[in-house]
Amino acid sequence: MITPNLHYADLKSSYLFYNIAQKTKAYLAENPDKKLYRMGIGDVSLPLAKSVIAALHEGVEDQAFKDRFHGYMPECGAPFLRTAIADYYRSRGIELGDDEVFVSSGASDELGDILDLFDRSSSALVIEPAYPAYVDANVMAGRKIVHLASGIDNGFLPEPSENAKADILYICSPNNPTGAVFKKEQLRKWVDFANENGSVILFDAAYEAFIEDEELPRSIFEIEGAKTCAIEICSLSKTAGFTGTRLGYTVIPKALVRHGMCFNDMWVRNRTTKTNGVSYIIQKGGAAVFTSEGQKEIHENISYYKENARLLMEALDELGIWYCGGKNSPYIWLKCPNGMGSWEFFDLLLKEIQVVGTPGEGFGACGEGYFRFSVFGSREDTVEAAERLKRLLR
Ligand code: MLT
Repeated sequence: MITPNLHYADLKSSYLFYNIAQKTKAYLAENPDKKLYRMGIGDVSLPLAKSVIAALHEGVEDQAFKDRFHGYMPECGAPFLRTAIADYYRSRGIELGDDEVFVSSGASDELGDILDLFDRSSSALVIEPAYPAYVDANVMAGRKIVHLASGIDNGFLPEPSENAKADILYICSPNNPTGAVFKKEQLRKWVDFANENGSVILFDAAYEAFIEDEELPRSIFEIEGAKTCAIEICSLSKTAGFTGTRLGYTVIPKALVRHGMCFNDMWVRNRTTKTNGVSYIIQKGGAAVFTSEGQKEIHENISYYKENARLLMEALDELGIWYCGGKNSPYIWLKCPNGMGSWEFFDLLLKEIQVVGTPGEGFGACGEGYFRFSVFGSREDTVEAAERLKRLLR
C-alpha cells in the first residue's frame, strides 16, 4: 500500500483562515439576518486601479489577434514585467539584474514552492507570532522548526540568537500579524547572522508598500551583505489589490550560493520544470502597477486603508487597549482586554457585535492573549466596527 506523506499527521487539523471562515459561516447559518464586519483575513475591498484594469483589457484584446496573441509565457516571467520590477527596485536605490527577478502567481504560493530549494533535513527558524503558512509548509516537508518567540518586551522584533540557529530564517517586515517593522540596524544583525552561519533568509516583503516612515527598510537588499544570504518574496495582493487576480515576484540574487550551488540557477531549473509561467493578461495588468500612474493610484488605495487603520486605532486609544502596528502596516495587533484568551475574544466579538478578527493564538503559542485586525474592509464597515467595539468594551 502506498505511504502518504505522514508529516500531514503533524499539522493542526485545519488552517487558521479556513477555521475562521468555517466559524463565521456557521454563525451566519444560525443568524441569517446578521451582517458581519470582516477584519479577519487580509483580503482587499477596493477594486483594482484604473490603469491596471486598462492594461488587463489591452491584454485580453491582444489575445484576439494573430500578431499580438501570446501562448505559453516565459516560465520565470515576461521580460517586460521583470524589467519593470527591477526598475522599481532601482528607483529605491537597489541594483538588480532582470534575471534576478522571478514573476510568481502570488507570495503565498511562492513561500511554499520555494522550499524545493532546500534539503528536507534543513531546519527553519520562525519568529513567532508568525504567518501560519511558514510553519505548516515546513511541517508538511518534515523539517525541524525552531521557534523564536517575540513579545512586547522586544517590540515583536527579536534579535538573532546563538540559541536559535537554523538553515532557513523567515523574516516578515512589516510583520504579519504584529505590524512591527525592523529598522536597518536590526536587519543588519540578521544579515550578518545568516552570512556567518551559512543560512538563507526568506524575507517576506508582502507589505513593503505600507511603510511610510522613510528611514525604515522596505527590502532586505537595502542591507549590505543581503545578496549573499537572502531571497525576497513579494506580492501585489495587498499592495495593488491582486488577492483574486494573483501575481507576485521573488528576488533571488545570483550571489546567493551554498555548497557551490547558485540558488538563482536552481530556481530557473525549478520554474522551467514546474510551471508554464503566469498568464500574459495578468502580467500585463501587473506591469501597469509599476508605471507612475499605477503607483499613484495604488498609493491612493493604500491611503484609504491607512485611514481605516487610523479610525480603528482611535477607537482602541479611547478604550485604553494596548496595540501596535497600523502605521506602517495594514495590521493592528492588540492585547485582548480583561485578560481574555484570543479565541474567547474572537467569539465575543462575533456573537455580540458581529466583528470578525483573527485570534493571535493562530499565529503561534506566543500570540495567545492577542488579536489581529486587518484594515482592508470598506470605510463604512470600519466606522461601524469601531463604533460597535467602543459600545461593547467601554
Ligand atoms: C492574512 O490575512 O494574514 C493574509 O491575507 C493571508 C494571506 O496572504 O494568505
